[in-house]
Amino acid sequence: MLSGHPPMDPLAERAAPRVYLEDMGCQMNRMDSELVLGKLKKAGFERVPTPGGADVVLYYTCSVREHAEDKVYGRLGALKRLKKDRPDLVIGVMGCMAQNHKDAIFDRAPHVDLVVGTSRFEDVVPLLEEVRHGARVLAVDRKELSFDRDASVRPRKHQAFLTAMRGCNKFCTFCIVPFTQGRERSRPIEDLLAEARILVQDGVVELTILGQRIDTYGLDLRDGTTLAKLLSRLHSELPGLLRLSFITSHPNHMTEELAETIASHPRVSRYLHLPVQSGSDRILQAMNRGYSTDEYRRAVELLRSRVPDLALATDWIVGYPGETDEDFGASCRLLAEIGYQNSFVFKYSPREGTKAAALEDSVPRAVKEARNERLLTLQDEISASLRSRYRGQRVRVLVEGPSKRDASRLTGRTHTNLIVHFEGPDSLIGREALVLVEESTPLCLIGKREPEDSYSA
Ligand code: SAH
Ligand code: SF4
Ligand code: F3S
Repeated sequence: MLSGHPPMDPLAERAAPRVYLEDMGCQMNRMDSELVLGKLKKAGFERVPTPGGADVVLYYTCSVREHAEDKVYGRLGALKRLKKDRPDLVIGVMGCMAQNHKDAIFDRAPHVDLVVGTSRFEDVVPLLEEVRHGARVLAVDRKELSFDRDASVRPRKHQAFLTAMRGCNKFCTFCIVPFTQGRERSRPIEDLLAEARILVQDGVVELTILGQRIDTYGLDLRDGTTLAKLLSRLHSELPGLLRLSFITSHPNHMTEELAETIASHPRVSRYLHLPVQSGSDRILQAMNRGYSTDEYRRAVELLRSRVPDLALATDWIVGYPGETDEDFGASCRLLAEIGYQNSFVFKYSPREGTKAAALEDSVPRAVKEARNERLLTLQDEISASLRSRYRGQRVRVLVEGPSKRDASRLTGRTHTNLIVHFEGPDSLIGREALVLVEESTPLCLIGKREPEDSYSA
């Protein structure tokens, strides 16, 4: 606890204090912010859609690139006025950036009251209470998490995340995650099954298992637990789950057991995120990724040999220190060779404290920009061609809800994670429908609903 802050009393007057929470990071962050909302709900908080109407404003932050952090400081800057007019407003920074910058956040944004790191978010209610008693609060120490969850707090009725493990031991040279999330800790398989059971009873049909290197799930438990075993048990014990996916995979841990488990469990998603980062062996080595391009290819071959209909997505970093035109050309070739369905491309951003931050950020911004554009254009061409192959095919679609652009249509996803729009009754939401694909556009597939008995695939 830090002292020297004027007393404030956000919870005193209102029966239902109002919280505004915005999350800005990966799925894991989103899950943690749902846990925070669950705690706040239990303590009587009501969620509001704008900071202006809130007693407590919380940002659930990401540190993975500078841009992500700039965005938070931008948001905090915009709150200065509000805080001046209403000194009782409580402003909190949570998540990876809080863990990364700790009390330096107070130096840069003195109107912040609360900084809560990645091990202390479950204590949000007592920490807010400390702020209420006049203290500025810093909570960034490491502590075991309980994962006590309010299953009803989730953005969509039919979908949920399940955090199977936290942290990362890999220390890729560019990456802040091992510093913000700590070392790998897996949750026992029985705890995950129990949590999943509650979610399914509450209407969840699609579950995404989360971990920064999810394929190392269970290794630290040293009792033979693996991701494959978790998938297989969820699949057999919870038949209500129509779709099961996991993110993020690391190419080093693609085992025969996992590939075969995907193949033999039809409700496991046919879409896999397998970040490659670069197509240049020299750069992969400099990044400490732990594989060569040939080893990456072998992981893909293993998967495709067992699961021929698998769609792959990946991440790329462009402009890593020392990346030459030749290195970048190798990335372009690998993208085309693998034929990804989707690529997420990031311009290298030095992160203080990582190994790569000691290197000169040598690739000029304009070059990073151009390489970013080039990879995205290449990917767009490949994605369009992959999508066009679906025309005339019948696909199974897990229906998510009304289409955002045209409420008369439904939207859902194929087993390979492609978005499909079609007309149908709302009663299909949360269920699977059979759709004949008639059109493919740059963003989605468009089709028409087919009677179930015509389903043969
Ligand atoms: N655990 C996942 C990725 C976590 S971070 C994995 O190992 O693949 C998500 C993505 O952000 C990474 O795949 C990488 O492409 C990107 N990224 C991480 N650090 C970055 C940095 N310093 N600059 C730019 N992109 C970065
Ligand atoms: Fe970061 Fe590498 Fe760990 Fe992924 S595997 S979270 S990129 S250190
Ligand atoms: Fe960002 Fe933390 Fe996720 S740094 S990518 S929010 S683990």
